[in-house]
Amino acid sequence: MKTSSRIAQLKPSATLAVNAKALELKAQGKEIISLAVGEPDFPTPDYVRDACKRALDDGFTRYGAVPGLPELRSAVANYFNLMYGTSASAEHTMITNGGKQALFNLLQSLINPGDEVIIPAPYWVSYPPMVQLAEGEPVAVAASAEAGFKVTVDQLEAARTEKTAVLMLNSPSNPTGAAYSREEIDAIAEWAISHDLFIISDEIYDQLVYAPAEHASLAPWWEKYPEQVCIVNGLAKSFAMTGWRIGYVLAHVDLIKAMSKIQGQSTSNVCSFAQKGAVAALSGGFDVVDTMRASFRKRRDLAMSIIGKWPNVVCPVPQGAFYLFPDVHRLYNETYPDSAAMCTYLLEEAGVALVPGAAFGDDNCIRISYAVDEKTLEESLNKIARILFG
Ligand SMILES: Cc1ncc(COP(=O)(O)O)c(C=O)c1O
Repeated sequence: MKTSSRIAQLKPSATLAVNAKALELKAQGKEIISLAVGEPDFPTPDYVRDACKRALDDGFTRYGAVPGLPELRSAVANYFNLMYGTSASAEHTMITNGGKQALFNLLQSLINPGDEVIIPAPYWVSYPPMVQLAEGEPVAVAASAEAGFKVTVDQLEAARTEKTAVLMLNSPSNPTGAAYSREEIDAIAEWAISHDLFIISDEIYDQLVYAPAEHASLAPWWEKYPEQVCIVNGLAKSFAMTGWRIGYVLAHVDLIKAMSKIQGQSTSNVCSFAQKGAVAALSGGFDVVDTMRASFRKRRDLAMSIIGKWPNVVCPVPQGAFYLFPDVHRLYNETYPDSAAMCTYLLEEAGVALVPGAAFGDDNCIRISYAVDEKTLEESLNKIARILFG
């Protein structure tokens, strides 16, 4: 079967091998625990599900406006205004099929062939392929575990060329959980703006930041430089709504129009009744989010109390999201010389599925998700320790 050269240049996901192996072992009757998950283990709040059910019963099942339900766009604008002191209105927002489609629409709308996009590494798996699909060049800038997985302005400046068009930021980060401080974000934003770059700030984990750390949003920079900054967010992580596919963007009106063209020619509106549920989520108060955040924080502390004692492993304390990204490369040996081999070994020997750091642009590390209950987390980390350290 002949497929396009676009497809040929895309690398297959490095997570697939571990997933395939996990399925194979499960089929053989082995007990496998997954710490590879990228979604909260909580149910979507009742009042959100009820709003969606009501919409269905009311027959709210037709095509809708491409950039989203006006009511939901207003709720999104209110969210930014309330959380980050912006003065956004519905026209500055757009509803997408998850944060993922927001990122895809943005890159398709902003990038010309050959444009370079700076991506701090470790990065979320989909950033480089999405840049390539927009015919841009991903330029990774590496931050080590010792640097807290955060890049500096000097590093970014060293990566900048005449072709650099966009900087993609993700704080708190998947896979590292690193969250940039206000000072760090401001310094990076100032640098990017002064060099006429466009900043895409993926803030999908903005509600999952653990005190005393605070989320430093780029939203105030959007307010000042709406033609150079946009914010991506969504309900998947903060409201445990991964399957609903509700993402949203805060951007300049012209960019919203450009993205609507892409969405209008590809997927059209996001599921009508799911958007009604999303209105309920954003309008219903944040108590459920507070409860989930408190629970994730406890799990983070539990996981750190175990991993922090592992010899020859460097794991900065994550300030947000629900991942740990220990640097384990000092443990590599003939049996597991890289992150993929170590994950395969741990899957076979400990029965625990993890994601190799190579998938996120850092082969020194492995990603551990703590979106599981405390007992499962503790047991599986102890199983890993027994295999690695005896
Ligand atoms: C950093 C980051 N951005 C975007 C997304 C996409 O989220 P959604 O499920 O809303 O498409 C994810 C999901 O894992 C993520 O981790």
